[in-house]
Amino acid sequence: MLKSNDVDNMIRSSIRQMKAYTPVDPADLLQEKAGLPGEHTSKLDGNENPYGCSPRVQEALASCRSFHRYPDPEQREVRKALSQYTGMKPEYIVAGAGSDDLIDIILRLFIEPGDRVINCPPTFGMYSFCTGVAGGEIVTVPRKADFSLNIDAVKKATNSRTRLIFIASPNNPTGNQATEKEICDMLDLDIVVVVDEAYVEFSGNSLINLVPRYAGLIVLRTFSKWAGIAGLRAGYGICPPNIAAGLMKIKQPYNINTAACVAILESLKDTDYLMGTVRAIISERDRLYEALTEFKWLRAYPSVANFILCSVLERNARDVYLNLQKRGIFIRYFDTPGLEDCVRFSIGTPQDTDRVIAALRDM
Ligand SMILES: Cc1ncc(COP(=O)(O)O)c(C=O)c1O
Repeated sequence: MLKSNDVDNMIRSSIRQMKAYTPVDPADLLQEKAGLPGEHTSKLDGNENPYGCSPRVQEALASCRSFHRYPDPEQREVRKALSQYTGMKPEYIVAGAGSDDLIDIILRLFIEPGDRVINCPPTFGMYSFCTGVAGGEIVTVPRKADFSLNIDAVKKATNSRTRLIFIASPNNPTGNQATEKEICDMLDLDIVVVVDEAYVEFSGNSLINLVPRYAGLIVLRTFSKWAGIAGLRAGYGICPPNIAAGLMKIKQPYNINTAACVAILESLKDTDYLMGTVRAIISERDRLYEALTEFKWLRAYPSVANFILCSVLERNARDVYLNLQKRGIFIRYFDTPGLEDCVRFSIGTPQDTDRVIAALRDM
C-alpha cells in the first residue's frame, strides 16, 4: 500500500520545488485579524472595484433560472458581446475564468518542458507561477530602476527555446505602462508576446488594434478590476484566430460558469454605469497620489492603474503595513527583488482615501 511519503515523491519534482503563490486574504479574515467590523475597514490590497458590480448583474443573477444547466462551452453569447465591446471578431476572442485561467492555458498551449518564458519583474506573480506549473523555465529580465522595460536585455535573453514573453501594461504593482514601440520591438523577436491589459480601463491605452497585424500577439483583459466581479472570475483574451482555436481546444469545456456569463453580458449592457465608477476611482487615485507626496518618508510612483506603489523611506515598510492593518486598512506589502520596502495601495472610495491619509498622518 502506498504511504503518504511515497505519494509526496510521486508529485512532479518541479512542482515540489516551486514556491506557492501568495494570494490576498479574504475580507472577513482580514477584519477578524484587525478585530474590526467591515464598515470600519478599508480593503485596499486586491485592486478590486470598491463600488462593486453593476446593479444589473445583481438583478440578473437573482433571477437567473439556468444554474442547473452547463454553460455553453463555445461561449457564443459571451464572445459575441465581447466582440461588440472590443470591435474584434468573435473568432479572435476566448473567455476564461479570470485572466489567470487564460495565462494558464496560454502556457499549456505553447510550453514544452524546458521551453523558456521571459518575465520582467517586478510584475504580476502568475506569469512565473503558471510557467512553473507548466514545466517551463522562467528567464528573468528585471525592469529598469524607473520600472520601464529593458528591451535590450530582453533581446539578449531570447534564444531558440524562448516561446513567450509576458508584459502587464499597466504593470502590477508598479502602475506604469509599456509603449507601443516596446511591444512592437518584442514582437519582432519572433516570440509570442502576451500583453496583459487587466487595468486598461483605468489607463485608456489599449494595444488590441495591433492583434490583426501580428501573428504572435495575445492581449488579455479582465472583468475583475473595472467591472467589479473579481469574485465571479471573468476574463478574456484577444488573439489571432489560430491561437484562439488552440486555446478553445484545450480549455476546460465549461471554464466560465453560468453566473460569470450572466455577469459579463449584464456588465457589457451597463458600461456607462461601470465607467462612472472607473472615473471615480481615477479621481481618487489622483487625489491619493497628491496626498502621498506630502509624506517625506514615502515615495509614491505615478500610476495609470487603480493602485499606487510606494517605497517606504526611513521607516520599516512592514511596520507601516502592520500599523495600517491594526487600524483596519489592508494594503499589500512587498519585499521581493526590485520591490524592497514597498507597499501598494489599491484605490478605494473617497472615504477609504480619507482613512488612509488620516492614518498616515497619525503614524
Ligand atoms: C496584471 C494582472 N493580470 C491579471 C490579473 C488577474 O485577473 P483575474 O482576476 O481576471 O484573474 C491581475 C490581478 O491582480 C493582475 O494584476
